[in-house]
Amino acid sequence: VRTHIDFDDSFPDERRPFEKRRRGKTRFDDAGPRRRGRLTEEAKTALTRELDDATTDLPDGDRWSTWVAAEHGPAPRPDWVVTAAAATDTELGVLKSGKEADVHLIRRAVPGTDGCVVAAKRYRGADHRMFHRDSGYLEGRRMRRSREMRAMANRTAYGRNLIAEQWSAAEFAALSRLWDVGVPVPYPVQRDGTELLMEFIGDEVAAPRLAQVRVSPAEWRELWWQLRSVLFLLAGEGLTHGDLSAYNILVHNGQLVLIDLPQLVDLVANPNGVGFLARDVRNVAGFFAARGVDVDTEELIEELADEAR
Ligand SMILES: Nc1ncnc2c1ncn2[C@@H]1O[C@H](COP(=O)(O)OP(=O)(O)OP(=O)(O)O)[C@@H](O)[C@H]1O
Ligand SMILES: [Mg+2]
Repeated sequence: VRTHIDFDDSFPDERRPFEKRRRGKTRFDDAGPRRRGRLTEEAKTALTRELDDATTDLPDGDRWSTWVAAEHGPAPRPDWVVTAAAATDTELGVLKSGKEADVHLIRRAVPGTDGCVVAAKRYRGADHRMFHRDSGYLEGRRMRRSREMRAMANRTAYGRNLIAEQWSAAEFAALSRLWDVGVPVPYPVQRDGTELLMEFIGDEVAAPRLAQVRVSPAEWRELWWQLRSVLFLLAGEGLTHGDLSAYNILVHNGQLVLIDLPQLVDLVANPNGVGFLARDVRNVAGFFAARGVDVDTEELIEELADEAR
């Protein structure tokens, strides 16, 4: 049985009975049974799960729902999200396998119910661009220990995993923030380590990327105006996607949904913010122009930059 146990780090140092005890008698000496630290509630649940896994027959590839121990998405939570501890996660297949992440389709359900279908984006521990202090990506975040910084710089397996976890956390934070302000993005269900679960955009099949759709000239114009208003919404928050293209936009029931957001750019904090904004706009404006839409690229960039100020 593989066991992974988290100890509660929030237990203040000066009150850690075990560590004190090593230095001699303390006021905690009579405080009950001796134990090594305290298991968090999450760790207890995870441990129980691991033991259950060893004794319960879950079909191959299935796992217990990872909801309890994960970081959760913004409230109010859509009612389709399954939070039951008795739910299991079943792999339905791979949506896309990429260099930096794989996207899987998962059904989370209490056995015998329909549950929900979610997209699981799993960042890989290899080949990553690195989060760097002055890239703007790590803004506000700080590595707690330099050992972690060194591991990432030296690309040890541990370090690569940390980098993957940073990207996953960054995308989860970006999706949560954008969901809150009404930008059309998949609802971020949870994040657990390098894996992020989000609303699956699609019905029987995944929604196509904008680059794959074929629509009438009037519909291209409609989609362009939708995208413009999304860009204004982002700029109003002082943000731009950072890697916007017709491949990172899905079209579902005539509505655009932005995806692939770990590098969301803060136009104010990032010294090259306007450069990223201009690149994003040029990418998509060029795409729509090639489909016969009358676009005003440079004017739009200026208007958006103004909006962000
Ligand atoms: N929530 C979702 N619902 C449906 N399909 C999704 C969802 N998220 C991702 N996909 C599919 O998986 C593909 C890859 O997702 P994403 O762009 O986030 O990952 P990526 O590894 O950065 O990919 P790439 O390197 O191609 O940009 C998307 O193009 C889309 O087809
Ligand atoms: Mg992508």
